[in-house]
Amino acid sequence: MGTYNAAYNKKSVRDVDVSGKKVLLRCDFNVPLDKSSGSITDEGRIVAALPTIKYLLEQSAAVIACSHLGRPKGEFVLEFSLAPIADCLSKHLCKPVKMAKDVVGVDAVALAEVLEPGEIMLIENTRFHKEEEKNDPEFARKLAGLAELFVSDAFGSVHRAHASTEGVSHFLPAVSGFLLKKELDNIGGAISAPKRPLVAILGGAKVSDKLGVIANLVKIADSIIIGGGMAYTFFKAKGGSVGKSLCEDGEIENVLKMLEAAQGSGVKILLPCDSVAGLELSNDVEPETVDSDAIPVGMMALDIGPKATKEFVSEITGAGTIVWNGPMGVFEFPKFAEGTKAVANAVAQSGAISIIGGGDSAAAIRKFGLEDKITHISTGGGASLEFMEGKVLPGIACLLDA
Ligand code: 3PG
Repeated sequence: MGTYNAAYNKKSVRDVDVSGKKVLLRCDFNVPLDKSSGSITDEGRIVAALPTIKYLLEQSAAVIACSHLGRPKGEFVLEFSLAPIADCLSKHLCKPVKMAKDVVGVDAVALAEVLEPGEIMLIENTRFHKEEEKNDPEFARKLAGLAELFVSDAFGSVHRAHASTEGVSHFLPAVSGFLLKKELDNIGGAISAPKRPLVAILGGAKVSDKLGVIANLVKIADSIIIGGGMAYTFFKAKGGSVGKSLCEDGEIENVLKMLEAAQGSGVKILLPCDSVAGLELSNDVEPETVDSDAIPVGMMALDIGPKATKEFVSEITGAGTIVWNGPMGVFEFPKFAEGTKAVANAVAQSGAISIIGGGDSAAAIRKFGLEDKITHISTGGGASLEFMEGKVLPGIACLLDA
């Protein structure tokens, strides 16, 4: 059997007394922002954090929320301020969210000190301090000093051992929020006790990002569908010609090892037999359907082809559980969106337990308006992948055992 870390049986916010307590709540408010206006383009992660926030406020806790946003590299960068998040939260909660001007400075400390039960404040972007990503104990101690209890609901960041995700647990009792628990129950359940057959769908650009997850899925899945740019390293490894398609030559040996491992454990690997290719990465090129192991010189594969789509859809239709991470092609371009769209529709209509890893595949499901037909869309990108790899995630391991 593959691994799902059983050590993830953790105390949740329901297992501790929060009433009248100051609670440091780590959320993942790392949301996409419009480049020119700075406005939030997808509130998904904020909405997903609301059940825990509302519960804490109803239980008369004083909530000191925190998060990172973007990668400001230890400096105050206005475009990464959490102020728009405070406004958005306030809109959803229908109550004021006090915004601190700093993270652990005079303003945050003063606001936290006078915060009353049932009130909420937000401190500034934890990554405005370089100590955050270094998991500096002194910085973690200051953060923890704002509160009496730590609640982690930042599933998207639990693969990071940072001061606000892991460090604070050395200074405060630490428990999970509802979102974190939901993610663990759904993703953990799908890979530890799946309704069979378990069909994994992996796509996206880089095979190097997915080798770890393939290694674990080879032990637990019944079949693995591989699409997207990452598929062409497999074709090259098998002796095919891939033209200008994405290919990581340095991973060819690892890819061959994966194919061998899959054969050894009787897991079916489905590669796209045909592809839709173009002369360059653009929606303006003429799409041409070609065999995936014979992509003409000068062309690059940008989507799976019609035969592959049919084969993938048929495999998905028979699934009991589906985990999907990564699109089948460049679905942002309408000419190369058909494969991803067909796979998304098949997943939605399969009747299987369906788990979508965050990032691009979640964006695809939303783009095609299918989110209501999916069992669970994760708020984690890298975190959901590392979780499915069977890795110990520091932001979960640090919480109190149930
Ligand atoms: C994410 O968006 O995957 C998380 O918020 C983590 O962000 P990071 O990759 O910048 O650590």
